[in-house]
Amino acid sequence: MAGQPRAVVDGLPQYKPGKSAAQAAADHDLTEAIKLASNESSYGPLPSVIKAISDGASLLNRYPDHRGEALREAIAKKQETSAECVTVGCGSVGLLQQAYSAYVDAGDEVVYPWRSFEVHPIFSAIAQANAVTVPLRDQAFDLDAVQKAVTAKTKLVILSTPNNPTGTVCGTDDLKNLLSGISENVVVIIDEAYLEFVTDKSVRNPVKEILPEFPNAVVFRTFSKAYGLANLRVGYAIGNSEIIGAIDKVALPFLVNGLAQTAVLASLEKEAERELWDRVGEVISERQRVYDVLTADGWPVTRSQANFLWLPLQGEAGAVFQQLESSGIVTRPFENEGIRVTIGTPDENDRFLDAIGSR
Ligand SMILES: Cc1ncc(COP(=O)(O)O)c(C=O)c1O
Repeated sequence: MAGQPRAVVDGLPQYKPGKSAAQAAADHDLTEAIKLASNESSYGPLPSVIKAISDGASLLNRYPDHRGEALREAIAKKQETSAECVTVGCGSVGLLQQAYSAYVDAGDEVVYPWRSFEVHPIFSAIAQANAVTVPLRDQAFDLDAVQKAVTAKTKLVILSTPNNPTGTVCGTDDLKNLLSGISENVVVIIDEAYLEFVTDKSVRNPVKEILPEFPNAVVFRTFSKAYGLANLRVGYAIGNSEIIGAIDKVALPFLVNGLAQTAVLASLEKEAERELWDRVGEVISERQRVYDVLTADGWPVTRSQANFLWLPLQGEAGAVFQQLESSGIVTRPFENEGIRVTIGTPDENDRFLDAIGSR
């Protein structure tokens, strides 16, 4: 055996990325397939951002700005907060990993509802933390149960809202209620990777509504989803400067690459914002259309506030996933639980509906 990994690492499953569209096409002898498995944007980066990225390519021989200061300033300005309350990372998942490094020792507890984002159990295992999972109720978070699960050993509470894979959200008042009952020693991460797709009026901006009142809350967001920059890996966190400082201490040097920094700065310009909301609007109306067609046809579908739909198919999940893949539609299966399908372009969504037999 080459090397001796830590026992916890030895016990982790080898990461298996979802099948690419090209691989699915090859496996099923199809001319092409589409991937609706990773909640990416099907629309590509915003047009004005592509131009900025191409212009930035000539600087690739230089390290980027270590702390991404210009990004922090631009995000802070947009969110009407100060730059010391903002940090940037290698996707919001990178920031989550940093939060584990900064706050969680072996034996500490991390509380999160389950099922949720797949990295939570992996990061908990690596940290040798005790993962305290709180079952979903009707596919949504049970925040009373989350509150009860917090103990003196809890270091982090992680709430993805919208949740992946169910697409359900936590209302702002419910989050405030939860935070009121939790000690300030516990960092509560409000992971809003899919924020831009939320239309539910019970969800208000936590940066204005929650952070000023609860210094132990921190908001994570990303440019991977609505902004169409998944490949560049950039996310950000907003919170109390002490939490941001702790997360920053464990960052790798030059964490956010220069093209990502350029792309984010361009994404925050007015022109890009207009482009963004046009496509977000289309995804939201497509989400409704696909939901309506599927439910009219008798499929179980959870109402989603994200750019994907969750079909809690339980025992049928594997078979439906296979049937879709053999028709050239790659979705994300969760064995014996359900499948998650990303909302793509209208044409991609039609192809999904054809393949599942609902058109
Ligand atoms: C709930 C949730 N949070 C965070 C992320 C991470 O996104 P990224 O690391 O690309 O910013 C994802 C990605 O799928 C997600 O589903």
